[in-house]
Amino acid sequence: MSLAIELHKLSKQFQDFIAVDSLSLKVESGQIFGFMGHNGAGKTTTIQMLLGLLKPSAGRAQVFGLDIVTESLAIRAQCGYLPASYHLPREMTAHGFLSYIAAMFELEPAQTRKRIGELLERFELSEFAHQKLGTFSTGMSQKVGLAQALLNQPRLLLLDEPTAGLDPLGRHDLLTYLRSLAQEHRTSILFSSHILSDIESICEQAAILHKGKLIASGSLDELKSAHGCERIDDLYLKLVRELS
Ligand SMILES: Nc1ncnc2c1ncn2[C@@H]1O[C@H](COP(=O)(O)OP(=O)(O)O)[C@@H](O)[C@H]1O
Ligand SMILES: [Mg+2]
Repeated sequence: MSLAIELHKLSKQFQDFIAVDSLSLKVESGQIFGFMGHNGAGKTTTIQMLLGLLKPSAGRAQVFGLDIVTESLAIRAQCGYLPASYHLPREMTAHGFLSYIAAMFELEPAQTRKRIGELLERFELSEFAHQKLGTFSTGMSQKVGLAQALLNQPRLLLLDEPTAGLDPLGRHDLLTYLRSLAQEHRTSILFSSHILSDIESICEQAAILHKGKLIASGSLDELKSAHGCERIDDLYLKLVRELS
């Protein structure tokens, strides 16, 4: 089994508040892994530690076998990241913005031009490529956010609540696209969300976080049957209520 992510008692403390509490977890590569939990559960903090944006207070973790503290640049080169609230520069065009991100990644220019063209076409943005991002709808902005996360053809995509704010059609398109990325390109995806129906529709495996702690992880079908639940919402509510 090859692992995309491995956490070993990973913790993050902000002053006297423990946001992520001794989290141990394994995520196999090539799958879409659901990272569930309500607001404040610790999802964003965990993702930011994986990318080297926040330093862990304790514990350790690896992404594709690389240490998140000492090898974060090598990890970042293999990851795509879509933050939860991603503010695009309003005055830049879609093409200009993607070129700017590609330059930050130091991607090869000829390869970059081709890749940007492919991504704009894939997300049906080609005709808006030279329009300012400030004029884009929420759905179009989300596609630009996803395109920048895919520029470096990442092995691991870290998506922080990517469906929040999308209309039903936008959500359906995004989920379909993520499924195809995992199936056709074997891209590993960490899909953070509190929208349980989205997790149920694209993830076979998931972890549930609650107040910084892991309360369950593994195959969703196995978790549901072990707890006598038919739906993911029932499973989540049952596990959370057991703790209250
Ligand atoms: N920089 C920070 N300083 C203090 N507390 C923080 C900071 N960042 C996050 N937190 C707190 O840590 C907890 C987990 O936050 P977060 O990881 O953003 O959760 P989630 O993404 O699951 O909603 C929250 O209670 C949040 O207020
Ligand atoms: Mg968050």
